Amino acid sequence: MDEFREKVVIVTGAGNGIGKGIATMFAEQGARVIIATKYDHEGLAVENELTAAGFWAKYIQTDVSEEASVKNLVHQVAALTQRIDVLVNNAGITIFKSILEATLEDWNKVIDTDLKGVFLCSKYVAQYMVAQNIAGSFIHISSNHAYSTLPNTEMYAAAKGGINAMTRSMAISLGQYGIRVNSVSPGFTDTNHYQNWLAEKENPETLTAEIFALHALGKISTPQDIANMVCFLASDKSANITGSDFLVDGGLTARLYHSDKF
Ligand SMILES: NC(=O)c1ccc[n+]([C@@H]2O[C@H](COP(=O)([O-])OP(=O)(O)OC[C@H]3O[C@@H](n4cnc5c(N)ncnc54)[C@H](O)[C@@H]3O)[C@@H](O)[C@H]2O)c1
Repeated sequence: MDEFREKVVIVTGAGNGIGKGIATMFAEQGARVIIATKYDHEGLAVENELTAAGFWAKYIQTDVSEEASVKNLVHQVAALTQRIDVLVNNAGITIFKSILEATLEDWNKVIDTDLKGVFLCSKYVAQYMVAQNIAGSFIHISSNHAYSTLPNTEMYAAAKGGINAMTRSMAISLGQYGIRVNSVSPGFTDTNHYQNWLAEKENPETLTAEIFALHALGKISTPQDIANMVCFLASDKSANITGSDFLVDGGLTARLYHSDKF
């Protein structure tokens, strides 16, 4: 499979979970993949795993919340590959805390990574694409929390809702350059992050059954489910799709109530 042969794809937060799944799928389809993530041990591990499998991958240490770091990323990729075709803004953190206790520091941490990070990476990659006349594709990883949410998720829900709104504006701004901008909103996705969260609960088996039952298809997503949608949005098959969000959540968000009383 070489759908993305010679294409250069930046995936932020590709050191783990969904980002790693996305980077792997692009690499398997012939892309040159930039692992733009915060921690050396994760970034190098993914680079080594992909190159050992015969794929092209390069780790560049990046903190998406720091402007200088994002500028350095784009500069380094440009020098290394002389092109950028796809940007996947995946890096994100979660702080779920009561609004009665959450601090401004908590708010800044979440917004800086999950929302400002998307803005900064998009800004510098867009400048590069426009200057190089590249009709690229941006895919932002949002969340079903942009649609319907839970108590104590104000900071995360605000960041993800902000991504979906920003996606629409960015698509309109960049359409004249042929650059497409879309977002993908995962629901529960089986990552280390999810498994660690589950392991801390009192009865993980019962909870797993309850979570699965909330889904129309009876199961949560895998990173590959999310990556399939991202690769579609990066490919020519989605050539006339921009400014849209795509839920990949097994039908979780479609349900208004979970109750057998109605
Ligand atoms: N896992 C889920 O159930 C789920 C559901 C909906 C949305 N999402 C979204 O998907 C994305 C990936 O989530 P995940 O579950 O794979 O998370 P994860 O924690 O497993 O991986 C996130 C990666 O991003 C990196 N990262 C964190 N801060 C960074 C920064 N400032 N700069 C660069 N890299 C940074 C981490 O080191 C890690 O490698 C996030 O945006 C998250 O909000 C996840």
